[in-house]
Amino acid sequence: MNTSFYTLLPKRDHVLILDQRLLPGKMHYIKMKTYRDAYAVIKHMAVRGAPAIGVTAAFGVWLGARSIKTNDRTRYFSMLGKMGEHLINARPTAHNLSWAVNRMLSFARAGQAGPAEITRRLYREALRIYHEDIDANMKMGGFGAGLIKNGWTVLTHCNAGALATAGYGTALGVLRSAKNSGKKIRIFADETRPFLQGARLTAWELQQDGFDVTLITDNMAGWMMKQGLINACIVGADRIASNGDVANKVGTYSVAILAHAHNIPFYVAAPSSTFDPAITSGREIVIEERPDKEVLTIAGRAIAPDGIKVRNPAFDVTPAKYVTAIITEKGVLFPPYKKGIKKLLGIP
Ligand code: MRU
Repeated sequence: MNTSFYTLLPKRDHVLILDQRLLPGKMHYIKMKTYRDAYAVIKHMAVRGAPAIGVTAAFGVWLGARSIKTNDRTRYFSMLGKMGEHLINARPTAHNLSWAVNRMLSFARAGQAGPAEITRRLYREALRIYHEDIDANMKMGGFGAGLIKNGWTVLTHCNAGALATAGYGTALGVLRSAKNSGKKIRIFADETRPFLQGARLTAWELQQDGFDVTLITDNMAGWMMKQGLINACIVGADRIASNGDVANKVGTYSVAILAHAHNIPFYVAAPSSTFDPAITSGREIVIEERPDKEVLTIAGRAIAPDGIKVRNPAFDVTPAKYVTAIITEKGVLFPPYKKGIKKLLGIP
């Protein structure tokens, strides 16, 4: 997979989670032993990135199942359902979270096995979700690499890398595959205020893995494009509506508009678990509002006056008309997206 670290590592009775809040300074793994631990690592962003959140929640359902002490199937399903609902509520925007929890719950309810056996099987299902995510990323890499030309400089926003997935990455996976195929590419990483996923995570991840990466602050992207320094943009996604509108880290919308104004392709890479067929457009996407302190401080230090009003939406929505193509594990979708998304999800 050619990354020098792992984001999460399933063990026999727990899962190790890399605490991304401590990067790039320190590599520390949290031992996730209960479904409450799973809720906490997602809620407080020790693990983040839509696919990584989904995989973590899948193991969270299994850990929850392990704690249920009953042989009664009805009671078992009722308790498991409540735990699943709790996990889904940890963060509202990433579709992969509810997708993974619901897949685990449906898997549990299928068949006639007793609770103990279902719990054992749930571990294997969570492992399948974990491996499928890595596999999907590698396939996306294969499809997406063809869009990236030798010698290009590509701008990315937030972190859609191995750290945001079970491994390899979505947007950064495409860039890994392009590099592995022998193309010479340079990457510009937006720092991604306020949580600094670009500066702390993307810059770290790409540097670890030997990429030519340059860090810029978010407000520099337009000027870099104006000077002809950026050939393409590529980002991940947290939720994609059935018309192709894309929710991703706040600031993605600005990058897409800038790319459009400078005639630069704007690519999104996401697995099918990020697509939400239940919503017709981005207007229906719930945008998570995060604590004021993320805006008011940097590394714990105040950068604004006490009592100032703050807004902190963690995501924004880029309308489909600004998206040049969506790279998935089943192929590349081009506009208009509705038909392609239906086909991707097997919807008649
Ligand atoms: O708040 P975060 O760090 O969970 O937000 C992550 C993003 O917005 C990523 O770009 C997205 O999840 C795609 S990750 C493959």
